[in-house]
Amino acid sequence: MYHLLGIKYISEENINDIFQAAENFKEVIHRPIKKVPSLRDMTIANLFFENSTRTRISFELAEKRLSADVINFSASGSSVKKGETLLDTVNNILAMQVDMIVIRHSVPGAPVYLSKHIKAHIINAGDGTHEHPTQALLDGFSLKEKFGTLKGLNVAIVGDILHSRVALSNIFALKKCGANVRLCGPPTLIPAHITELGVTVSHNLRETLEWCDAVNMLRIQMERQNIRYFPSLREYSMQYGLTLPLLESLKKEIVILHPGPINRGVEISGEVADCSNSIILNQVENGVAVRMAVLYLLAQANKTTQKVS
Ligand code: CP
Repeated sequence: MYHLLGIKYISEENINDIFQAAENFKEVIHRPIKKVPSLRDMTIANLFFENSTRTRISFELAEKRLSADVINFSASGSSVKKGETLLDTVNNILAMQVDMIVIRHSVPGAPVYLSKHIKAHIINAGDGTHEHPTQALLDGFSLKEKFGTLKGLNVAIVGDILHSRVALSNIFALKKCGANVRLCGPPTLIPAHITELGVTVSHNLRETLEWCDAVNMLRIQMERQNIRYFPSLREYSMQYGLTLPLLESLKKEIVILHPGPINRGVEISGEVADCSNSIILNQVENGVAVRMAVLYLLAQANKTTQKVS
């Protein structure tokens, strides 16, 4: 069984294969008929135990563009509410001859746990504070599209690094592809020992912006915070919010990314989110092509001995 459980478990070569396939699929989704028959023999279940807008719709669209049969499951309204376990839920869905599972879960490691117990491809669509591999792949793909290469690129990730699966997956992906990564945020929201992953840390947003070619702005994950990590959102925003005056005061232009959902006026102002240097909606568009690539390559792994993870 071959899965995409996290960027940690895949190689630079795997990432490049995904980017190459995504380029081809991006061309497909711009055709008048945006569909290819590649996965017409596959049935894919999207299991969302946590809220999602972008990832869920993007996966469903990617699957339909590849002609797969798709079923969607959300924990709310399901028998999970009656006490059914994750494994029982998944095994019951697999009993209906499902080939591939896309799963989002609030528990870090849930996709890894499933991979040890079931016989189907698993794609991690975000597991708690652990990883969000397809987000990092679409971020990397969008940066590569913009700059031509990730090698030597200075990329800053700003915000709630401590609770962010997007940050961890981005660090793994960017470092594997040769980019330089700097994390920025209040000391309470930067994990201890994170520099062991080969990144640098700054607590100064202006200094970070002066250094980087592109900045990925992350939201504060209030739903994962049980204690207060900073005095108030207003104070956080004054220290670490990206505003147009700050952006315009820099000596150079930088590219702005955000994985969404955006909290306008907190980590990023509405003006910056919508400015010409923002590639936020390009990221969303590329998400479909990148997810088509991941689905396609995993399905191919079924047919050949090639191992993706
Ligand atoms: N970027 C992202 O994961 O967004 P959703 O939570 O809306 O899927």
